[in-house]
Amino acid sequence: MNLLGKTVVLTGAGGGIGACLAQELAKSGARLLLVGRESKTLERLRAILPGGPLTHMIHVADLCSAQDREALSLACADAQVDVLINNAGVGEFNLLENSNSEAIAALLDLNLNVPIQLTRLLLPALKARPTAAIINIGSALGSIGYPAYSVYSASKFGLRGFSEALRRELSDSNVRVMHFAPRATRTPLNDAKSQAMNTALGTATDAPEVVAQALLRRIHGNRWHASVFGWPERFYALLNALSPALTDGAIEKQLPEIKRFAMNES
Ligand SMILES: NC(=O)c1ccc[n+]([C@@H]2O[C@H](COP(=O)([O-])OP(=O)(O)OC[C@H]3O[C@@H](n4cnc5c(N)ncnc54)[C@H](OP(=O)(O)O)[C@@H]3O)[C@@H](O)[C@H]2O)c1
Repeated sequence: MNLLGKTVVLTGAGGGIGACLAQELAKSGARLLLVGRESKTLERLRAILPGGPLTHMIHVADLCSAQDREALSLACADAQVDVLINNAGVGEFNLLENSNSEAIAALLDLNLNVPIQLTRLLLPALKARPTAAIINIGSALGSIGYPAYSVYSASKFGLRGFSEALRRELSDSNVRVMHFAPRATRTPLNDAKSQAMNTALGTATDAPEVVAQALLRRIHGNRWHASVFGWPERFYALLNALSPALTDGAIEKQLPEIKRFAMNES
């Protein structure tokens, strides 16, 4: 898809991956509708984007509010949005027994319910465009269930399933659907405990700029099918689908370390 002149709504625009995506999208000639909860963050980002601040728009919204989502969908219809990128998300690195019901509900809401609801609201406007796309930012943990990420994994497995079904549901329409799944990325989403665990286990992590560039290559190349970004995670996702027992064994060996970091013991 050629993004030149396309209008793209990007949620979580002020975050680690979001801000890098905004740069790459603007570089490709897209006009952006930047969404986040803080106008100052969005204004700062808009000021440094290619194309100049007059090209891009900002929209302040708490996406967990149904009212804010309605207002955003009206703004998107007015702006004749061609592409929706559901990027806003939260993480929790914690054993399930140490989590609490509020944190679980908030994570499932933002990571799974919000993209589904926003997509439904924007679909009529997207269908009215000559070509349109919905891009859901998942995670490698949406293909590989990982200890201390059980709720996060559940949300991202759900998002992957939603994306796959919707891509097939819309395959006779003008709207393409992509699910893009980064592996661990160096952003504020990962707390100190999870970063320390990644270092101890030698887990590969990417810079958010690299993740954003990889997504842009997929958009430009019309590669709409679900894919985990990065090796060996893409291989493990495949292996896990074919033989979860093998993956169980490999991850079981890491479990004492994972638990040590999740429980913040030194
Ligand atoms: N970092 C990783 O290791 C990693 C790996 C795989 C996938 N991902 C996925 O990549 C996406 C972006 O994550 P990130 O790493 O860039 O995280 P991040 O730096 O923490 O950014 C998250 C963004 O979500 C927004 N957000 C949070 N709650 C919101 C709400 N209620 N309403 C509106 N916006 C809200 C935040 O906006 P505010 O500016 O308003 O706070 C922030 O811009 C997420 O879907 C995440 O699951 C991340």
